[in-house]
Amino acid sequence: MAEKQKKEKSETKEMVTVLIMGKAHKVPADATIMGAIEYAGYQIKRGAGCREGFCGACATAYRLPNDYKIYTGLACTTLVQDGMWLAQLPAIPAQKPVYNLDELKPDVTAFQRIYPEIFRCVACNTCTKSCPQDLEVMDYIQAAKRGDIAAVMDLSFDCLSCGMCAIRCPAEITQYNVGILGRRLFGKYLSKKSEQLDKRIKEVAAKKFDKEFKELMQMSEEELKKKYYARDME
Ligand code: FES
Repeated sequence: MAEKQKKEKSETKEMVTVLIMGKAHKVPADATIMGAIEYAGYQIKRGAGCREGFCGACATAYRLPNDYKIYTGLACTTLVQDGMWLAQLPAIPAQKPVYNLDELKPDVTAFQRIYPEIFRCVACNTCTKSCPQDLEVMDYIQAAKRGDIAAVMDLSFDCLSCGMCAIRCPAEITQYNVGILGRRLFGKYLSKKSEQLDKRIKEVAAKKFDKEFKELMQMSEEELKKKYYARDME
């Protein structure tokens, strides 16, 4: 085999076939779902944010060949598999009540009032199984039912609000919003107060750092980077 042909062969990527909204595309086998969609020529305008698995904007439902299950994942961190049937969910049309934390108490009554549907939970664990972050979603819903705000905060802390739990839930609970309420209640009523933070907020409000802010706003990106890396580390 000529050297050129050999080189071309070794450079040929392994490809797999995925179905994007029902249309088959050949994509590199080592691509993420997001990379595969873009490789196939689609421009992602909604349903992408950080591209690193932090923002939860890229929820995806997929099926695999000869498998009855619906799988869920984040498009930016899940790798493609041959025969994957992909459906992007750039937004989840879930209920999002408006509430005033000052009118709520950090106990079960807050959940009874804002998210009474959590008491319909049938403990099927589908929410936990559909979480791309592998969070114990059902456990924090159970904690909310007991009014255990600290447990709701702790168990839901890494939630990205991708919404996959909510669209699979047979009781139509919006688990990720329940987690947000728990974390807000914990932050407002139960977390240890930081005297340092209070002091710094007062200083900012008193315009103590306005001169420094102004200087920073006028710096170039390079100057900012230099200053950032030379900062005092705690
Ligand atoms: S784009 Fe942010 S989690 Fe995927």
